[in-house]
Amino acid sequence: MHNIDSYSHLRGESIYLDDIPELSGTLYGAAFGSNVAHGKITNLDLEAAQNLPGVVRIFTYKDIPGENQIGGIVPDEPLFAEDKVDFEGMPVAFVVAESKKIAQKAVKLIKLSTEPLEIITCPRKAKEIGSLIVPPRTFKTGNTEDAFRKCKYIFEGIAETNGQEHLYIETQGAYSIPAENNSIKVYSSTQGPTAVQRHMAAVLGIPMHRIEVDVTRLGGGFGGKEDQATVWAILCALATHHLKRPVKYSLDRMEDMRMSGKRNPYTSDYKIGLDENLKILSYEVSFYQNAGATADLSPAVLERSLFHCTNAYYVPNVVATAYSCRTNLIPNTAFRGFGGPQGMFVIESAIAKAAEELGVNAWEIQRVNLLKTNDEMVYGQKVVSEAISCWDKLDEEFDPQNIHNDVAIFNASNHLFKKGISYMPICFGISFTKILMNQARALVHIYMDGSINVTTGAIEMGQGVNTKMLQVAAKTFSVNAGKIKVSSTNTYKIANTSPSAASATADLNGRAVQVACEAILTRLKTFAAKLLSENENRISIRDEVVYVKDSMTDLKWNDLIIQAYLQRINLSEHGHYATPVVNFDPSIEKGHPFAYHVFGTALTVVKLDCLRGTYEIEAVKVVHDFGTSMNTIIDKGQIEGGIVQGIGWMTMEEIVYDNNGKLRSNALSTYKVPDIYSAPKLIDIVFYKSEAENLAIFNSKAVGEPPLMYGIGTYFALRNAVKAFNPESKIGFSSPLTPEKALLGLYKK
Ligand code: MTE
Ligand code: HPA
Ligand code: MOS
Repeated sequence: MHNIDSYSHLRGESIYLDDIPELSGTLYGAAFGSNVAHGKITNLDLEAAQNLPGVVRIFTYKDIPGENQIGGIVPDEPLFAEDKVDFEGMPVAFVVAESKKIAQKAVKLIKLSTEPLEIITCPRKAKEIGSLIVPPRTFKTGNTEDAFRKCKYIFEGIAETNGQEHLYIETQGAYSIPAENNSIKVYSSTQGPTAVQRHMAAVLGIPMHRIEVDVTRLGGGFGGKEDQATVWAILCALATHHLKRPVKYSLDRMEDMRMSGKRNPYTSDYKIGLDENLKILSYEVSFYQNAGATADLSPAVLERSLFHCTNAYYVPNVVATAYSCRTNLIPNTAFRGFGGPQGMFVIESAIAKAAEELGVNAWEIQRVNLLKTNDEMVYGQKVVSEAISCWDKLDEEFDPQNIHNDVAIFNASNHLFKKGISYMPICFGISFTKILMNQARALVHIYMDGSINVTTGAIEMGQGVNTKMLQVAAKTFSVNAGKIKVSSTNTYKIANTSPSAASATADLNGRAVQVACEAILTRLKTFAAKLLSENENRISIRDEVVYVKDSMTDLKWNDLIIQAYLQRINLSEHGHYATPVVNFDPSIEKGHPFAYHVFGTALTVVKLDCLRGTYEIEAVKVVHDFGTSMNTIIDKGQIEGGIVQGIGWMTMEEIVYDNNGKLRSNALSTYKVPDIYSAPKLIDIVFYKSEAENLAIFNSKAVGEPPLMYGIGTYFALRNAVKAFNPESKIGFSSPLTPEKALLGLYKK
């Protein structure tokens, strides 16, 4: 089945925030963000801005009727700065004007005076002075000290990953409309409508039931709108609350890049110990996460780094410690992989370091340490592993020996070009690591003409979840896809939604749709049995026709529905699903946090121009564990997109702050994401069908985030190419490996 949005996307008819017709009387907002990264506010001069014709009003913290607080996990994030600013871009005031242009012009007239405070941008420095968001956490298994004594080889080092700009095509934004009795309707480009509703209620000092958040779709979220869409929606709603007029704020790209959080950069220390057979016996790692100025989702991101610190390997003795460090950068946030990629990069670096020192290929170490079923992870969960199956399938499908030989021949006969290869196995846990978030609801109506409407808590952001929701209803009822409409996500229809995140959206909401459809189906079967004077156990519906056992009857879906309606049968249902089994006890850092794990392996081949430092990615060949994919077109798109986004993070996307905490890579002229020319020449995906039962919807494993981590393979393939040119290269483990860094790696003494 193709993506149900493809037709309207292609024709430009799909509705995003900016396509919603504006009501007359609509006002336009623009936020004024701090121009310094840390300072005590001595004066805020709004006069010139206020006097600009067309400016209606400027809001500050003084206008907040409820509480000036929007922190999701830790209440440490004011909506507006009060007496100090903690990062460049921190909202201080919100201008509302008759046009967007006027609002933006007024923002430039605002003058903020501050007394400078010390600016910290480095997470290690923050940790040193005790500036942590939450207390450190340690995941531990076995005894690393004893194990290191038994190791033949021990290696230590540092590995670093930079942040990443989400660069969703649709920027952040919201449109709020006054409704009667002090209520507000908000259109928001958010992955978390309930987060918007909850924090808005607190800021405005009104109950959540007065706030309707509606989302048709996003032009991408990638985690950047899980928690950070709330600010813009609340700014609009605050103005609507006071002015009783519709207010819209849709950020320009540079505003968005300057004022919204990114992937958390990490710097980490590792120590790895192996025995004579290259088995990893012991691993210690400390993660220093650059959280930015407030907690946002960083503590949860950090937790996932711990969960994924050993990637797809079994390591019997582990100590992993994680520090969420408070700095004066924009609060960083969720980004596809949610801390997993940051954790996995470190063990891959440790393995690469060991390989280099021992004069073996990294994949010889990787292969012998892959997880087997029933191996216990550092957090206590026993895995059902497909790691080895995927790896071996890759060897079977793609004949790597041949690729290795080609590369060896190429490298022997070329001086100024070198090729490099890497393997990148992945293991990604599916479920929100916060157990309570693993729940979802869906509302299903069958109308009297037989057509069906499905509403869920899932947000469509390009990942195709609405198509999957439709498929669940179509399959459960056995009706044509054309009978079903999936409508916008709305907090008046579905309450208390978890954000669409953690790759779990289709699993959670799909199961809720299934629960709702099955309940209606049961009533329909009972009713059909009565109509046909049959036993209801013998009734089924197939392709919109009622069957008794295997024989078709004259009763069609549409007749059944209208008759059921006339007999006052309930044709609507609200389904609820909560993932069974999952549990976690943070007091001992052990449990069974994931419904299941997703596996796969990527083989990457790159070609490096050793004169220029530029490179091409020749091929990424992947065997990916889909369980049984319910939509191979969509899932393939997720893999391709994830790989390219991961490659961007690892190679060219470079977030740069200066020492004053000012973002220098604040526009598309200074921040480069992969385009068609830098994408791999070839992405080859083999669908590996794993047979084991899992908790995914229709056994179709979650696919949103895991493929991003295949991109890590490109880093190591490039690094190998650098080493092929200059075996003495001092190149460390610091991503992204931009052409500049590659060049330094090739030549720097
Ligand atoms: N794909 C597209 N096209 N756009 C997105 O914003 N977000 C990613 C991934 N794939 C995203 C995407 C992230 S961060 C997550 S968590 C999942 O999709 C969320 O959707 P899912 O739970 O339905 O997989
Ligand atoms: N993934 C994504 N988002 C989240 C998670 C998670 O594990 N936990 C809380 N928000
Ligand atoms: Mo994805 S980072 O869980 O939105």
